[in-house]
Amino acid sequence: MNHSLFEMSGKTVLVTGASSGIGRETAILLSIMGATVVLTGRDTGRLEETLSRMAGDGHKVEPFDLGDVDAIPAWIKRIASQTGPLHGLVHSAGIQHTIPLRVLSAAKLEEQMRTNFTSAVMLLKGFRQKGCVAPRSSVVLLSSVLGLAGQPAVSVYSASKAALIGFARSAAVELAGEGIRVNCVAPGYVETEMAGEIRTKMTPEQFEAISRLHPLGLGTPGDIAHSIAFLLSEAGRWITGTTLVVDGGYTAH
Ligand SMILES: NC(=O)c1ccc[n+]([C@@H]2O[C@H](COP(=O)([O-])OP(=O)(O)OC[C@H]3O[C@@H](n4cnc5c(N)ncnc54)[C@H](OP(=O)(O)O)[C@@H]3O)[C@@H](O)[C@H]2O)c1
Repeated sequence: MNHSLFEMSGKTVLVTGASSGIGRETAILLSIMGATVVLTGRDTGRLEETLSRMAGDGHKVEPFDLGDVDAIPAWIKRIASQTGPLHGLVHSAGIQHTIPLRVLSAAKLEEQMRTNFTSAVMLLKGFRQKGCVAPRSSVVLLSSVLGLAGQPAVSVYSASKAALIGFARSAAVELAGEGIRVNCVAPGYVETEMAGEIRTKMTPEQFEAISRLHPLGLGTPGDIAHSIAFLLSEAGRWITGTTLVVDGGYTAH
């Protein structure tokens, strides 16, 4: 057993969604494992709060609206020119609208696809640019069990998360020769800000039913952060194009 495979010292990782929930917890964990982390999200105050909870120094706060998808590759180039080549990318930024099809608009559809999926494609396009990426790097995209199993009123969110799974498979094959691994993590229901907002749209009975579908109970951001860190580290060096389901048994039914 080689424990140093989990070591992240000397590695720089860009984490989107670092101002909240899973992204925040991942940034904190990676800093404890020795990585230097570039934190991004739109809310500078909440990014600074994440920074204040991190171990080590040299981390950077880089506010950016991922809705501006065309600007992503140049933005990554600028970051890498300051930090040096990146060893990892975690795409945890995402939005979930609970909207039944009968009231869905094309604008709401496009907003979810842009934030959850198109941004992921442009992030990877930016990440793989010459000078931006270090040898033997790893990308983790946050999908969801809803990309694998259905639920009412979240069809577009599900589609955006399923798209990430298909994208990761082909991108993994395309980029293996460049030394870049690409994987997804698909969480079940994790208690974060996003989940809290979704909960407000449910009756207590509906929430109880969702809880019961998780035989190990609901997840914490830390449960997901550990899986992400594994895939980023050298311990995951032979894993690419896959989706790691971390769901307390939700999809085991
Ligand atoms: N929580 C769950 O139960 C669950 C389950 C399965 C999958 N997931 C997935 O896991 C990921 C993280 O979820 P979470 O629960 O941690 O969510 P969260 O607490 O709501 O955090 C979402 C993050 O996305 C960022 N974000 C949203 N829109 C953005 C934009 N246009 N540009 C830049 N950043 C943006 C937010 O930052 P700002 O507000 O600062 O912009 C925030 O940091 C998401 O992709 C989600 O779909 C979550």
